[in-house]
Amino acid sequence: MSLSRKDLTGLIDVSKDEILTILETAEKFKEINQREIKKVPTLKGKTIVNLFFEPSTRTRTSFEIAGKRLSADTINFTASASSTTKGETLIDTVKNIESMGVDMFVVRHYYSGSVKFIAENTRAHVINAGDGTNEHPTQSLLDLFTIKEKKGRLEGLNVAIIGDITHSRVARSNAWAMKKLGINLKLYGPNTMIPKDYEPFGCTVCSSIDEAVEDCDVIMMLRIQLERQGIALLPSLKEYSKLFGLNKDRLKKAKKDAIIMHPGPINRGVELPSLLADCEQSVILDQVENGVAVRMAVIYLLTIQNANQKLEA
Ligand code: CP
Repeated sequence: MSLSRKDLTGLIDVSKDEILTILETAEKFKEINQREIKKVPTLKGKTIVNLFFEPSTRTRTSFEIAGKRLSADTINFTASASSTTKGETLIDTVKNIESMGVDMFVVRHYYSGSVKFIAENTRAHVINAGDGTNEHPTQSLLDLFTIKEKKGRLEGLNVAIIGDITHSRVARSNAWAMKKLGINLKLYGPNTMIPKDYEPFGCTVCSSIDEAVEDCDVIMMLRIQLERQGIALLPSLKEYSKLFGLNKDRLKKAKKDAIIMHPGPINRGVELPSLLADCEQSVILDQVENGVAVRMAVIYLLTIQNANQKLEA
């Protein structure tokens, strides 16, 4: 199994078969992650640089652990401590690091499209770890892995994504992927946070949270992205919570065994209360756990393309 592509910049152009290949490979890596020795020699001698221009807890740590468990050398680049602060361009930064023999860049950047731009200007593999409001493909893949693990299937499931859809790269990647996988996707949020161009996603935009949650197998709550002008589009966080937040009564409208998801970080008490974030139906930490296996799968499948390497498990 391999991916016949150099980079993973988004799910917009990734096929259903490719998505299923990644999820299947991640299952093998999840098994490895449950062993006492959570390491395989597969990528010994390869170098991966995490190039993060925005803060991250889950994604950066997860990619670093994933690279290390595959035996690659992983290096974390911190933008604030680099020569970008002296005016070096993005591409000069990439080309200088590439010339040290780097095989892969994992990039998070505040500009939509910047990761694709980097991918077009380097010989190294590039994985998008979140670019502006565009895509966050590995977050969507770990969401799908978690849904499949908990529900046993993907096709035909009812999923609601609720919150600041416009500014959410997680919602966008999931919308592209879920359409390909036959998932019925409903979106809900404040009018100011629903994109006008949602039709290509083939999803339904709901007019109330009750309509969004009704008969759902999966409820994915999103964070208000205060750093992306989210607050300017709302009267107040208290009102947001009242009108658009999940609570116990609203959850009752979903299927009895519905799962609650969130990409993190959570604004506790805004999009959902701690009572629900930490309840039995919440799979938020399972998502984080599965992120390592999914990222190992993506790194592995991109790196072994055109090579004859076998997974030494
Ligand atoms: N889900 C996610 O991208 O979290 P971080 O911003 O902490 O990486």
